Amino acid sequence: MKVAILAGDGIGPEIVAQAVKVLKALARDGLKIELEEAPFGGAGVDAHGDPLPEPSLKLAKAADAVICGAVGGPRYDALPRPQRPEQGILRIRKELGLFANLRPALMFPELVGASSLKPEVVSGLDILIVRELTGDIYFGEPRGRRSNARGEREGYDTMHYSEPEIRRIAEVGFQAALKRNKKLCSVDKENVLETSRFWREVVNDAAKQFPQVAVSHMYVDNAAMQLVRAPKQFDVIVTGNLFGDILSDEASMLTGSIGMLPSASLDAAGKGLYEPIHGSAPDIAGRDMANPLATILSSAMMLRYTFNQDEWAYRIEAAVKQVLAQGYRTADIHEPGTRKVGTREMGDAVVAAL
Ligand code: IPM
Ligand code: MG
Repeated sequence: MKVAILAGDGIGPEIVAQAVKVLKALARDGLKIELEEAPFGGAGVDAHGDPLPEPSLKLAKAADAVICGAVGGPRYDALPRPQRPEQGILRIRKELGLFANLRPALMFPELVGASSLKPEVVSGLDILIVRELTGDIYFGEPRGRRSNARGEREGYDTMHYSEPEIRRIAEVGFQAALKRNKKLCSVDKENVLETSRFWREVVNDAAKQFPQVAVSHMYVDNAAMQLVRAPKQFDVIVTGNLFGDILSDEASMLTGSIGMLPSASLDAAGKGLYEPIHGSAPDIAGRDMANPLATILSSAMMLRYTFNQDEWAYRIEAAVKQVLAQGYRTADIHEPGTRKVGTREMGDAVVAAL
């Protein structure tokens, strides 16, 4: 099993180092895994003038899976768009065909108090957001700047989805629902957008192959509201790239901290890129403060989804549960009465719990 490690920027290298530590500990126990690092994001710009340098892309293509940290930082904000670190992550998703983004929002019982919502609203929460990742207004052409008929400057982007793009992500959503509580909610803006009208039609058509799954539809504004009102009504949510970006950040906070949530971005064959859903947090970078658990849990998702190694994945997840039960907390999830630790110590605790 060959894994490309693209740590990226900000807290990326610190949190990825903890996931690497965990994987290396498993390797000592017999997990057959090879790890190779390459620069990515702002680090790619620094090394090669490109957020996705050719050798890094080559490594990612040759590997069976990729682990990413996070990209971006104020130092790179003024660069022209092709050199922005965010382009590195968008391009690698596109280049590797990673159209299916799985973002679970799972409430750990120990963290119920860290959520900003009432315990009864969030305890037992287990949602899977399936976000389409290589289409939509993120990649739509034309886009850019122009002058309108009145000679005013304007910016514009294009939202579109093709039938195969919608069908394949809907199928990922239905398949996931089959393994869970058999409920799929498709989120769109059908009351306003043509793209969404078409999306809904295709999802309903795909639903015919999955009679065991109860399918519903919701407008994205209502979904944003329902997520904080009564999040436990959801099992699997399937949605487009832009809506999924927004709703997955919102859903993550239900669980106490965005620092807890892993993600998988998969191609049609199960090859995947695994990353925490949070960003590079430049404000706390280099201070041994970031929560590495989302990245560690991402490596568990990798073992499960790309390598079909459920047992090893389970060991990592059980170790994470154990350190939480033991009271270890990074600053983002710290509450009185628990033990505040830094990034490295949290990684060490997980290794010890393995
Ligand atoms: C995410 C991030 C990215 C996205 C950014 C960094 C381009 O917010 O993975 O959710 O918008 O997809
Ligand atoms: Mg996002």
